[in-house]
Amino acid sequence: MAADSLIPLPKSVNVSLKAPLNIGELPAQKVRRSKRRPYVFNLMVAGDSGLGKSTFINTLFNAPLRENPGAKHLASVQTVDIQPTTYELFEENVTLHLTVVDTPGFGDTLNRDADFNPIAQYIDAQYDKYLKAERSDEKRGNILDSRIHALLYFLPPTGNGLRDLDIEFLSRFCTKVNIIPVIGKGDGLSPEESAMYKKAILKDLARNDIRTYPTHHAEDRDHLAKFEKFIPFSVVGSDDYIVKNGVKVRARVYRWGAVEVENEQHCDFVHLREMLIRTNMQDLIDTTHLVHYSLYRSGKMGGESSSNGRPASVLACDDDMYDNQMQNAKKVAMDEMKMKEEQMRQNFISRVRDKEAELRAREEALNAKRKQMMDEIDAMRRQLEM
Ligand code: GTP
Repeated sequence: MAADSLIPLPKSVNVSLKAPLNIGELPAQKVRRSKRRPYVFNLMVAGDSGLGKSTFINTLFNAPLRENPGAKHLASVQTVDIQPTTYELFEENVTLHLTVVDTPGFGDTLNRDADFNPIAQYIDAQYDKYLKAERSDEKRGNILDSRIHALLYFLPPTGNGLRDLDIEFLSRFCTKVNIIPVIGKGDGLSPEESAMYKKAILKDLARNDIRTYPTHHAEDRDHLAKFEKFIPFSVVGSDDYIVKNGVKVRARVYRWGAVEVENEQHCDFVHLREMLIRTNMQDLIDTTHLVHYSLYRSGKMGGESSSNGRPASVLACDDDMYDNQMQNAKKVAMDEMKMKEEQMRQNFISRVRDKEAELRAREEALNAKRKQMMDEIDAMRRQLEM
């Protein structure tokens, strides 16, 4: 959390110690205490089928977490499945409870509601669970946190900027969760194509006011500059290895050579992994709690105002964060208004179309009647002439 959001300490008197007290051990005590409790991280992946999401998860955590990639969804199912799976990863006395939430079926139909609603409902249901636990006076550390801390949205390696589906999805979800757009199967683009594609995506994100992580939401700004230049991360995943200079490395092998997953000349995988796991995992969790969940919570409890005019339910946060939350709330309201406007426009268009079709049918009926009358008159004229 930003240091300036901490409560200021009372005035104190400097004391120089005559003998060591071992205060320096405090951080280590904290680390030992936090190591006893497992860390929880919940990651959702979404994007078209076959973009390498499962393979990427295996590559990211360096373990065969997702089996049978490509065989998760029945083609006959008409909505997105939500498939959470929890894994327990253990390293250097730290346990990570990792939940990967897959969303097979995304983009398989042309129905946006069928694509988006199950995902939105799942995310909200986890916020609701957390809210219920908070209301029952459970301490934050004891609440089982199933909220989505990061959503990796896979873009196809087309090189053509964002599609309508991408814009709608990202616009709707960027105020709900930390959304990180990534280009799947990055080896499908040459470095020049990739650079141009990234530019086009960034332009589309800005044009549509889509706020992605880390640029817009990260609480911890320390690593921002380092990662921003790779956004949107272009990734390559693989379950296969090659041996290079006597070392086994993950790679995709082609007739013309190999694309190495961890080679930063080949793709941005190492940078995304570093951000997700090494530097920003805790920040993703904090941002989820302080920004997205807080916004959800204030929306749920909205109305009640405290003495400073803020909704009483907004969690304690500094002014910047409060402004951010309010901006987000405004954006959500604007989005809803835009959606309603669009619905009204569609209704109007379809009513005009119906009316046009009705008028056309009447005109055709009149024409037919007129033709019939003309034929009758012709016949009568011919009879008279005879
Ligand atoms: P669904 O299971 O349909 O949701 O697909 P998915 O997005 O999980 O993709 P999956 O990981 O199942 O990979 C689909 C196919 O793409 C497999 O044959 C993978 O070997 C291949 N694949 C995965 N990652 C990459 C990549 O980075 N580049 C290329 N060229 N192929 C990849």
